[in-house]
Amino acid sequence: MCGINGYVGEREAAPIVLDGLSRLEYRGYDSVGVAVLQDSGEVSIHKRAGKIGDLSSELTDRWPTGKQAIGHTRWATHGKPSDANAHPHADCTGRLVVIHNGIVENHQELRRRLGDEHTFASETDTEVIPHLLENNLKDGMNLADALTKTMNQLEGAHAVLAMSADEPGVIVAARAGNAGGIVVGYGRGENYVASDLPALLPHTRNVVFLDDGDIAVVRAKTVEYRNGGRPVTREPQEVPYDPVSVAKGNYKHFMQKEIGEQPEAILDTIRGRANFAEARVDLEDVQISPSRLGSIKRVVLVGMGTSLHAAMIGRHYFERIARMPAEVDNASEWRYREPVVGPDTLLVSVSQSGETVDTLAAMELARERGCLQVTICNGIGSQATRMADGIVYTRCGLEIGVASTKTYLAAITALYLLACHIGQERGIIDRERMGGYLEPIAHLPYLAGEVLARGAEQEELAHEFARFDNFLFLGRGIHYPVVMEGALKLKEVSYIHAEGYPAGEMKHGPIALIDPDVPVVAVVQKGDLRAKMINNIEQVKAREGTVIAIGVDGDDELEEKADRTFYVPETSDLLSPVLTSIPMQLFAYNVAVRRGCDVDQPRNLAKTVTVE
Ligand code: AGP
Repeated sequence: MCGINGYVGEREAAPIVLDGLSRLEYRGYDSVGVAVLQDSGEVSIHKRAGKIGDLSSELTDRWPTGKQAIGHTRWATHGKPSDANAHPHADCTGRLVVIHNGIVENHQELRRRLGDEHTFASETDTEVIPHLLENNLKDGMNLADALTKTMNQLEGAHAVLAMSADEPGVIVAARAGNAGGIVVGYGRGENYVASDLPALLPHTRNVVFLDDGDIAVVRAKTVEYRNGGRPVTREPQEVPYDPVSVAKGNYKHFMQKEIGEQPEAILDTIRGRANFAEARVDLEDVQISPSRLGSIKRVVLVGMGTSLHAAMIGRHYFERIARMPAEVDNASEWRYREPVVGPDTLLVSVSQSGETVDTLAAMELARERGCLQVTICNGIGSQATRMADGIVYTRCGLEIGVASTKTYLAAITALYLLACHIGQERGIIDRERMGGYLEPIAHLPYLAGEVLARGAEQEELAHEFARFDNFLFLGRGIHYPVVMEGALKLKEVSYIHAEGYPAGEMKHGPIALIDPDVPVVAVVQKGDLRAKMINNIEQVKAREGTVIAIGVDGDDELEEKADRTFYVPETSDLLSPVLTSIPMQLFAYNVAVRRGCDVDQPRNLAKTVTVE
């Protein structure tokens, strides 16, 4: 959601901050703004609804000069996208500015308390923050102390940056709860603050991720941290990314690039963890004793969106590989139920970003109940990785396209490894069985590459089907989540209405939708469920529906049954979702491109959802 970026140093700050914000565009936003502490000692604010490019064009030939700036891309929650509602927001003097990610849940009460002597210029909840700061500064505090006090007055979760003309050379940053991360980047004689790494990578890889409750006082040459009013030490860590990895290169879109990177992402997720010679799976960040794992009676998997779909596939792994009772739920539903869980429950959370507010809240609840937790996550240093007892990183590098692709396939792979590892540690998978699970995973990156090599067929399909406005996706068993994800991808990037259903459910309602204008995408796997899927295809055809079947190489009968077919190579039943997901990603991408959609930044969507 909102992007945050700040700079303090020796260089002109505004272009650096706007460039950083443009690297966070993928987070999703509707307005943009920057405040510069000018060499003259005044704060100059420039903000507007629209894109960063619009603001940059507006500033051409009149860039505000100054060596310190904060900037923001806003994803509207309170108050429509408009120039006035864009951040930064100032206090009454105009000398103090704030940018914010999160929701001030008690903003109405705070506005009332601030009273008539404060004039508000926007409809946002955020605007109470500079005014509270203004009051707190009047009590003789410095900016960092005033922000500490202000954060205690706010309800909800927040990431805040503030600077004041009366304290030049300082940007203060605060993180409270799970409203998205704040990362401090260490340069030479200059420092940076951002909501996410891509803004920092052109400048530095040495970073500190703020903990819940941290305040950072960032100057050009020093950064101090405090938490709970006391100084704390935060050692910078080097992140293993480089700016090239977050560049689009020759690709037209990040989504296209990231779909293409999937064989490598799968390989990186497996690397060093699956020991083929000894038939073992060892996960470097899951150091949980066999006796603790042995005490677990059931597994609960949670996630949102694409990560939920990966978790739904993971449930099959825990049941079939680790032989453990497993259930799966949408994190935002699970957290508001009264789930009966405790120390004998393993909560497996799946999150690309590790910052999704509902997933973090589910983890918080699990922590309160004493559950053991493992997170499947791509976001190095993210909040989810700090809350869990064990981590399986998906090692995909940064994913920039809003629609998750490579992190989805890597998460499925990671869940497979986790189920193997836990089954092994609980002593229920012997060497021979483990060999059987590991053998197909060794071929998976290559086979994923094979599917990608057939991408031209997908372009033809997209050409033919891009004109339809409704799609039904059907699958069974482990391919039910696959079709849910196929439908989600199509919705997200091409704005086509699509629904994913377990094929057995079709006759209980969705069949009423079937007509020649509602194409059906059906995944037909090998094994017991194949015949059932063929029956479902027959039922669609009997109602003049059009069927695109995704089948396994060699299943030639599908040609007769379906209108169009796309084949993937054969792998084990358990790993087949990795391969059948790829044609659906390619289909969604190609259809969206044909329809002229903004593939990497679909309307209304944010890469990381930090509000409920
Ligand atoms: C997927 O294409 C979407 N961007 C979205 O559904 C996403 O998977 C969801 O918001 C969860 O995000 P997370 O994996 O970062 O927790």
